[in-house]
Amino acid sequence: MNDQQPMAGKSHKLWGGRFAGGPAPELEAVNRSIDVDFRLWPFDVQLSKAWAVALSNAGVLTSEESKELGFGLDEVARRIQAGVTPEAGDEDIHTLVDRLLHEVVGSVASRLHTGRSRNDQVATATRLWSMSACARLDAMIRELQQVMITQAESLEGDVMPAYTHLQRAQPVSGAHWMLSHFWPLERDRRRLAAAARAAAVLPLGSGAIAGSAFPVNRTVLMETLGFQAVSPNSIDAVGDRDFIAEVLFALSMLGAHLSRLAEDLILFGSSEFGFVRYGDAFSTGSSMMPQKRNPDALELARGSGARMLGDLVALLGTIKGLPSGYNKDLQEDKRSLFDAVDGMTLLLPAVAGSLGTLTFKRERMKSAVTSSMMATDLADYLVRKRVTFREAHGAVGRLVKEAEDAGIEMTELPMSAFKAACSAFDDDVMQELLPATSLSHRNVAGGTGPASVRQQLEAAKASLA
Ligand code: ARG
Repeated sequence: MNDQQPMAGKSHKLWGGRFAGGPAPELEAVNRSIDVDFRLWPFDVQLSKAWAVALSNAGVLTSEESKELGFGLDEVARRIQAGVTPEAGDEDIHTLVDRLLHEVVGSVASRLHTGRSRNDQVATATRLWSMSACARLDAMIRELQQVMITQAESLEGDVMPAYTHLQRAQPVSGAHWMLSHFWPLERDRRRLAAAARAAAVLPLGSGAIAGSAFPVNRTVLMETLGFQAVSPNSIDAVGDRDFIAEVLFALSMLGAHLSRLAEDLILFGSSEFGFVRYGDAFSTGSSMMPQKRNPDALELARGSGARMLGDLVALLGTIKGLPSGYNKDLQEDKRSLFDAVDGMTLLLPAVAGSLGTLTFKRERMKSAVTSSMMATDLADYLVRKRVTFREAHGAVGRLVKEAEDAGIEMTELPMSAFKAACSAFDDDVMQELLPATSLSHRNVAGGTGPASVRQQLEAAKASLA
């Protein structure tokens, strides 16, 4: 790394002393990353300020120089905030900050890039950005979870079919269905927190590859910048992008979970199900068919889960096969990271809004629970009367067929049919064909019984508290 004074009419570069001519425009075009990494500027300024202090403590800068750089960097931040836009020659955000710093404080700016490299710099800035992104995402996921809790509480007394193979399976409480989408998000938040911890390891002080040649106190840097540990190996530190892979995996899982929730709601909103009606603010119309009410946000949630997955695969493909240390390939990391985080930043509030504004058609949900869905309950009833489950399963299967052939509900079968199927059936069997009875038997932990669902709701609320 070779600091240069900005030269009139020439672009500001952090390197180039050893070259006779400037880079070809084709190289500059492919090399330039400022359009992607511009957003790192607050973190580049922050770590640069900490570095100026570290250099002064290490005896490399006088405290006046260090202060001047600190003030200068604050002014750089103000200028960028106020709307400084990159120039054609600004290769990346580190170059831009350096150029502006020269404009603000003059030649003392050339002392800042001592003992550091853009290799440890970009790794540090990207980690800081990731840590803050994880915190922002966590808050957005919590908001969606809060909406789920509110909807779950409103559905606590409502019964609906639960599906396996997308076939009506057994009755459940509406709250139980709603919370089945809550817990995956809880796991996603834990994964994101773990990714944030993986990011919280300080690379600064690693230099280009071998460690800084000046005795900077990395522990102080770690504390100043809010990291939790200091990287133990400089070669690893400048080439490690595991934390990005971890963020992207967490977001891919989150994308899959949002997609599954969206798919449930898209199905439920169809006329065939008719369980929900989308709120006006989250419905779109058709340019041709006046009657349409489309759940675009949910469809985009389902569709863009693929994007996060693509970002993860792109990053893993970039990392795999790289020699140790920093390689320019790694510049691509931010494209994937930012794309996935940006996608989620749009999706989470849109899904929360879609879910929060829809109305459940409780009567439709209830009437979709047909008597054959209590077939398992009938078998369980026989088991309680000491019939083996295998035998009970067979007897109830015959009753299901009988009702199906006659085109009636099982509740309409005569008592004699029950007796004929199995002598252990008594008059109290009709009670077993009620959805509420089915639910009441399922107060096992994690089950859909009313007491269990109440406990589950309390646990969900506690996890957000
Ligand atoms: N823009 C580069 C990146 O994002 C910064 C690091 C450049 N390092 C280098 N040795 N050229 O990776």
